[in-house]
Amino acid sequence: MNIAIQSLIDRHTTQKVTQCGGGCRCTKPKNPNADMADLRMYNCCVSITSAQTTDDVVVVKWSDGTTDQFHHGWLRENDPSPASRHPISRERIVKPLSIPAFIRPKSVCVHSNGALSVTWSEHNSNHTSLFDAGWLRAHSYCGSKSTQTPNQTRPDRPSPAIAVWHDLLSSQDALRNWLDSYLLSGWSIVVGVPHEDGAAVKLGQRIGTVRSSNFGFSFDVKSKAEPISNAYTSGFLPLHTDLPHYQMPPGLQILHCLQNEAEGGESLLADGLAVADLLAREEPETFRILTNTTVPYRFQDADSDYITRHPIIECDETGHPVYINWSNSTIAPLDTPFDAMPALRAAIRRFVTLIESPRFLIERKLRPGEALVFDNRRMLHGRTAFQPETGARHLQGCYLDTSEVLSRREVLTRRNSDLAFA
Ligand code: OGA
Ligand code: ZN
Repeated sequence: MNIAIQSLIDRHTTQKVTQCGGGCRCTKPKNPNADMADLRMYNCCVSITSAQTTDDVVVVKWSDGTTDQFHHGWLRENDPSPASRHPISRERIVKPLSIPAFIRPKSVCVHSNGALSVTWSEHNSNHTSLFDAGWLRAHSYCGSKSTQTPNQTRPDRPSPAIAVWHDLLSSQDALRNWLDSYLLSGWSIVVGVPHEDGAAVKLGQRIGTVRSSNFGFSFDVKSKAEPISNAYTSGFLPLHTDLPHYQMPPGLQILHCLQNEAEGGESLLADGLAVADLLAREEPETFRILTNTTVPYRFQDADSDYITRHPIIECDETGHPVYINWSNSTIAPLDTPFDAMPALRAAIRRFVTLIESPRFLIERKLRPGEALVFDNRRMLHGRTAFQPETGARHLQGCYLDTSEVLSRREVLTRRNSDLAFA
């Protein structure tokens, strides 16, 4: 699997499953040698040569000379048999407390079909768990195949993934390739989108469940007489992420351009994570402040009042920036302690200076029939002011969580496993 895509997926998932974690060059998944109640196929060009049990782990030796260790309790919890994992729902049934804290297998061996066989002595009867070798290898959690996010160098201004509406709607391979490109670049332009109300939602639903918000199931970005958002004016909209007033802002945003005849109204984008990486490397104090301080966001209208907090740069547990939360329109009055206020304000000014600098700023006027698709938790977006008297401007948008992107990608990978390991 493409390492960059895998690391992006890992950034979004708590479960860090790598294909054949040994770093070998498997090309195709093999048929499992045990039913793991898992719809994913695991490729593995190595086999188990021996298995031994110690006081607390099973030591598995692989045909490429590497070794893995799995705790007895971990193996028992992951027993794939129908007594432990429902064969139809595939969800776990066995409960941690139903397993003795210091469970130890009665015996382990390599089954004649290549699976790891672990026999337990429970409640005076024997129970055997069979683990598919590929599944086991992919779920290895010891040694150097750790969960560290690899260092990535991002381009300052990533190029968009370009895709054609008809291809995405008619070809699953095109859809999967597009999702991969989108995950890497953080944004995309889809061309050939029909001039139809609801096309943004149709594209969103091709990926997964479209997420509603206080702006509706989908929303129309136009200059409105009584705007509930700065977006619904004709004014300049500085770079921002949408909905930081939600505890979990949406991941993917689609903005379908139906009309853009007005003067101005150019779309603006900047890769916030590229800026965060630069700050982490070159301006650690600014990075520290923006990652360690939460700021309040608030959206209010006649019928709602959302308030929540986020750091402007949000990191994962390894300290790598993963999400950006910034909106000049909905940030509430800063409330950081008095002594820390000047430094926080200076850090925000520095962040805004960088995102707006020519090094990071991307500008592009959308044409009718194009959809701008971007990762709202990575790419800040905005637009220049437009003159409504010079022509109409109408975008229609909707949101999805990034989980929908990753899920669709996984299902399409399942369908065509050759693609997954290219
Ligand atoms: C928005 C927005 C951008 C545009 O609706 O949140 O950022 O180009 N719109 O009008
Ligand atoms: Zn926006």
